[in-house]
Amino acid sequence: MIGKAQGPPISITGLGCHVPDRVLTNDELSTIVETSDEWIMERTGIRERRIAAPEEALTDIALPAARAALAQAGVEPRDIDLLICATVTPDMMFPTASALLADELGAPRAAAYDLLAGCTGFVYALVQAYGMIAAGLSERALVIGGDILSRILDWSDRSTLILFGDGAGAVVLEKVDHGGFLGFELGADGGGGIHLSLPGSGSRRIEDASANGYVHMNGREVFKFATRVLVSSARAVLDECGVGVEDVDVYVPHQANVRIMDHAVQKLGIPRERMVVNVDRYGNTSSGSIPLALADAAADGRLTEGKLVLMTGMGAGLTWGSALLRWTEPKAA
Ligand code: UT7
Repeated sequence: MIGKAQGPPISITGLGCHVPDRVLTNDELSTIVETSDEWIMERTGIRERRIAAPEEALTDIALPAARAALAQAGVEPRDIDLLICATVTPDMMFPTASALLADELGAPRAAAYDLLAGCTGFVYALVQAYGMIAAGLSERALVIGGDILSRILDWSDRSTLILFGDGAGAVVLEKVDHGGFLGFELGADGGGGIHLSLPGSGSRRIEDASANGYVHMNGREVFKFATRVLVSSARAVLDECGVGVEDVDVYVPHQANVRIMDHAVQKLGIPRERMVVNVDRYGNTSSGSIPLALADAAADGRLTEGKLVLMTGMGAGLTWGSALLRWTEPKAA
């Protein structure tokens, strides 16, 4: 799916994020599985990640992110009429994380549902919220992306354990006077889905009980896919919107592996300093990755009025997606 934004300008008017307190370093990981800080740094650029406490579930880390986004937008929870939570690790399949969050926030008017699109979930959810507002069905949407991937990892599998971390981010979407989203591109390839899967997590019975409930990943295949789609999806949305790559001020790729991200900037021809990188501190936080990176860019003063922001996510499904946005200063900033 590809499209240029039509109709009234719609933008992000509030942004918030939250990560658990517990920091897990590479050195500590090397006491759990056979690995080393040198190997992880060289192959991924990850130095440490955050890990949720045993008693914390997704809604516990998503709630502070959502509250921060609402506060920045100056929006009361009761005025939210759409709440989408992109995650592959809801507290449980139902009640959905979004329904629980709407209740905890005090947003009884909100249509609330979870969205499953792997690490691309946040971008998919942005597009849905945009579409609902553009169609006049929603006035104010809260989009949350977050995961507690540490809960679904096999802690004896070094190939996945080193990559992932926990975190959440949230944004408020509303109509604005100018700027906002310019266009989107979304895609999926279920044929490649086997390379990143969670066996035993649904109605498909799995014979090998030991494989159940943990992330299985063919790292090399996902690497090839990721390097390809980060480039093709970004080019597609830029072409669709008639925008040159040189106009991109802030590039926010999914924070999966610094080698994948470096490949993308080189191929696209985006100066590296325009790319947001925080994978070193958080690892791959799945649906939390792009909002956490946006929050870092905002904190660094890189997200100012009129800046052109390119976001591209990719992940399980396999899925990918890009959004192009002319940044508007949050109202309460
Ligand atoms: O949201 C999307 C989520 N997933 C991704 O983005 C993952 C994409 N893939 C990757 O990031 C990389 O493929 C990995 C970081 C997972 C692996 O890096 P790689 O450079 O592709 O390593 P490799 O799998 O080709 O393994 C190279 C060597 C192997 O040893 P031999 O066979 O060459 O002797 C592995 O056994 O490194 C070994 N190895 C490790 N060594 C130390 C694999 N994992 C580790 C480890 N520590 N954690």
